[in-house]
Amino acid sequence: MQKRIPEEVVDRVRKANDIVDVVGEFVQLKRQGRNFFGLCPFHDEQTPSFSVTQDKQIFYCFGCKKGGNVISFLMELENYTFFEALRFLAERGGVELPAINQSEETATSKISQDILSANEWLTKLYHHLLKYTKDGKDGYKYFKQRGISDESIDAFQLGYAPNSRNFTADFLNKKGFDQHVLIKGGLITLQAGNEATDPFRGRVIFPIRNHLGKTVAFGGRTITDAHPKYINSSENELFQKSKLLYNFDLARTHIRKENEVVLFEGQMDVISAYQAGVKHAVATLGTSLTDFQARLLKRYVDVVVICYDGDKAGLEATYRAASLLRKTGSQVKIALLSDGYDPDGYIKEYGAQAFQRLIDNSDTFISFYMQYLKKDYNMTNESDRLQYIQKVVEQLAKVNSYVEREYYLRDLSKEYHLSLDTLTKEVDKQRQKQEYQKDKRGKNRYTSTKQPFYQEKKLLPAFHNAERRLIAYMLQDQSIADRVQHELGIDLNIDDHKIIVTHLYGFYEEGNEPDVSLFVERVPDERLKQLVIEIAITSVGENISDEEISDYIRTIRSHAQAANIQTYKQQQKMAEKQNDPIKAAEIAMQMIELKKQLKNIK
Ligand code: GTP
Ligand code: MN
Repeated sequence: MQKRIPEEVVDRVRKANDIVDVVGEFVQLKRQGRNFFGLCPFHDEQTPSFSVTQDKQIFYCFGCKKGGNVISFLMELENYTFFEALRFLAERGGVELPAINQSEETATSKISQDILSANEWLTKLYHHLLKYTKDGKDGYKYFKQRGISDESIDAFQLGYAPNSRNFTADFLNKKGFDQHVLIKGGLITLQAGNEATDPFRGRVIFPIRNHLGKTVAFGGRTITDAHPKYINSSENELFQKSKLLYNFDLARTHIRKENEVVLFEGQMDVISAYQAGVKHAVATLGTSLTDFQARLLKRYVDVVVICYDGDKAGLEATYRAASLLRKTGSQVKIALLSDGYDPDGYIKEYGAQAFQRLIDNSDTFISFYMQYLKKDYNMTNESDRLQYIQKVVEQLAKVNSYVEREYYLRDLSKEYHLSLDTLTKEVDKQRQKQEYQKDKRGKNRYTSTKQPFYQEKKLLPAFHNAERRLIAYMLQDQSIADRVQHELGIDLNIDDHKIIVTHLYGFYEEGNEPDVSLFVERVPDERLKQLVIEIAITSVGENISDEEISDYIRTIRSHAQAANIQTYKQQQKMAEKQNDPIKAAEIAMQMIELKKQLKNIK
């Protein structure tokens, strides 16, 4: 399939996109020596074992063993076809791609493609109507009343759906979209009498974009007092509320820059925050934060600031979201609003600067929790008070920083007249208990914590390791590849290795420089690609001496000879069984010759 795009174009696209930058847009990477590490996006883990190597332009996960170059990273992560990944990277790197027959190249189903395309048309239509037409005036007025600037209207592509039953259906019909596709995408609904109508009619429109910036659904808010206040497109293959965070695509670069994300409950809050200069803002769409969303955030940032409504429901939701985020490993902070305010209302009342201060000075989770918990207890009652303190201690025991623990313990000690020493002992006891429970669950203790990364595969026999190491060096140094080609050719013992070196010799003969990331593109088999990456990452040291190469070659040869002797022995037995003394003698001679050679090698 990919053959239709010239290889030099693929190379150019690849070179225009540094793998560390691209992966860094999806995974929070931290430099560790010459490599970058982060939480693997392909499997669930607490300790980073996902590595990106800049000089080789490849990634490899020591946990799940996935590896590849920048193109396969996107194919894997986004479920892209080769061409889709290439198109994404070409756009990103400003490289022009030759025209290509798209329909054959895409992984998303035809229906989803049509829904995407219809959504794109509608986004533009609604937006245009809002800004420039009489039909959209009511919507525009509504946004203006709510203090939304023209710039925000553009940034969020806000729109208005005209208050007409069949305007949208007619529009999409004329564009040639199938009715059942539009229904599936929730763009139109069938009313009594099978009349196609726009469910959003008469509402202001918030296009809901996925993390790639494509509209996958719409939210529509009434501009009167109609119920329900908001409606969303129905869920489908492209749009699942529980997996999407509103504004994630635009917020992403700000999130990475601040290493912090602010989490809201609704679209309007995000837009208001954006106007107030808080641009690392995302929102769930009126549903509680899901495990999926929490893990998504954890991949990008360390700190999540929760900024929910300041009423009772908001507090409950804050506590739930905070617990989930902490369980997922995020550091949680809380921007607490006084009762009766939501973020949008707060900004209106107190202004952008006050809001920024609120976010900057948000509370730690513990400080929030100490307040939040009080609602369950009658603090004038002694036994209630003790239970309260016990609960706080249990949470404090989960905090890893001594300083933070002591800070709050001092508070507790002062407020409830208990000695700091007693409280500290209580927390330590609790920590031991939690540690013990962790052990009992066997979680991560002996498995995923801090595996030594550059561990040679100890269980492999010497010749196997020799072949891996040799290939690793051949991948980064053509002169070593030349020498091995001259001395061994493809006489390695492992079939996969034979195939790899054959490709590698060809790769160099074509005049290519050492470049693993490029080389894997030329290896046709997915399994072999993975193996090449694994070898390149795990089997390599700094420098290699000629002597070491000779050692490897010797080890590989002598194993081959030994294997040959085994085969001869079997043939000899066979010949004897078949009463063929001449053949048996011949084989015996060959074996003696081989053994002699073997001695010389050793
Ligand atoms: P405004 O009233 O426009 O300021 O919205 P809000 O952000 O204050 O809304 P609210 O706090 O009531 O709800 C938060 C989010 O929940 C909204 O942004 C919507 O995404 C969603 N939501 C609110 N009401 C409804 C509803 O009636 N139906 C559905 N499906 N979602 C809703
Ligand atoms: Mn609101």
